[in-house]
Amino acid sequence: MKIVTTFAEVRAAHRGTVSLVPTMGFFHEGHLALMRAARERSDTVVVSLFVNPLQFGRGEDLDRYPRDLDRDAALAEAVGVDVLFAPSVEEMYPSEPEIRVTVGRLADYLCGRYRPGHFEGVATVVAKLFAGIQPDVAFFGRKDAQQLAVLRRLAADLSFPVEVKGRPIVREQDGLALSSRNVYLSPTERASALALSRGLARAAKAALDGVRSGAALEALVTNEIDQTAGVDLQYVNLVDADTVQPIEKLDRDSFLAVAAYVGETRLIDNVHFWLRDRLEYQLGERLQSPSVLYERR
Ligand code: PAJ
Repeated sequence: MKIVTTFAEVRAAHRGTVSLVPTMGFFHEGHLALMRAARERSDTVVVSLFVNPLQFGRGEDLDRYPRDLDRDAALAEAVGVDVLFAPSVEEMYPSEPEIRVTVGRLADYLCGRYRPGHFEGVATVVAKLFAGIQPDVAFFGRKDAQQLAVLRRLAADLSFPVEVKGRPIVREQDGLALSSRNVYLSPTERASALALSRGLARAAKAALDGVRSGAALEALVTNEIDQTAGVDLQYVNLVDADTVQPIEKLDRDSFLAVAAYVGETRLIDNVHFWLRDRLEYQLGERLQSPSVLYERR
């Protein structure tokens, strides 16, 4: 595996079809699953690792975001990544960017509402990655469902010739969605954090039993969180999977998304719904053993 810091070096390493997995590092099995999917799909697998200052708001965790390039390089190499692109902030943004990508209504709700400018920062850095790396396919997790919707539209609306692919959420054995931010959680907080996935699982089962009211499904998640000490709900919303607008009834492809603070740590999670002949839902996949996130170095 090559570790490089410039776009030119990444492009020089291209052979055949190229997949890109954008990340901010501190890898866990959610990231590794995207890399494995990319490995299956293409000749060259590029992983970008860049903690993007543009997508962090004031008072957010940019400075304390976990970082460990050696650890990440070893994990990426083990799943067969060809190129790890780890640019410095100066390489990515030689000067304060004057030209940025704006995001319309897709950012009106969920995280967009509580993190002003966040999706502009994400769309801008991913546009740079698409332009500078020129991948054929790019892989993103459904963990960040609103981000996935934004990036699909980024590719479509700005005509990037890249296929944007979504992959299932990877969870701990007990259901907690993997996140690099889970390392912030104390043992007590780690237990409380399960309220999110528990609430979503309740709602998914209710939907399968025929509940279609968005408000009723949202209430199941709210109740679970209200009953758990130390968890503060930020939002819970059933939204259209493509437009990310709230919907009153579960009558189309959609997701039920939740954000909550557990202590100082902000966590997000969701369940996806598909309406084919009948309703199907996807909570994601549980690991068989504890995540590499907690392995001692
Ligand atoms: P990051 O949070 O590092 O996530 C990188 C990719 O991993 C994203 O596509 C995210 O959805 C996916 N991912 C994270 N946790 C996951 C889980 N538990 N299961 C499945 N996939 C998971 O998302 C970003 O970085 C940044 O916003 C980025 C797109 C790189 C732009 O800076």
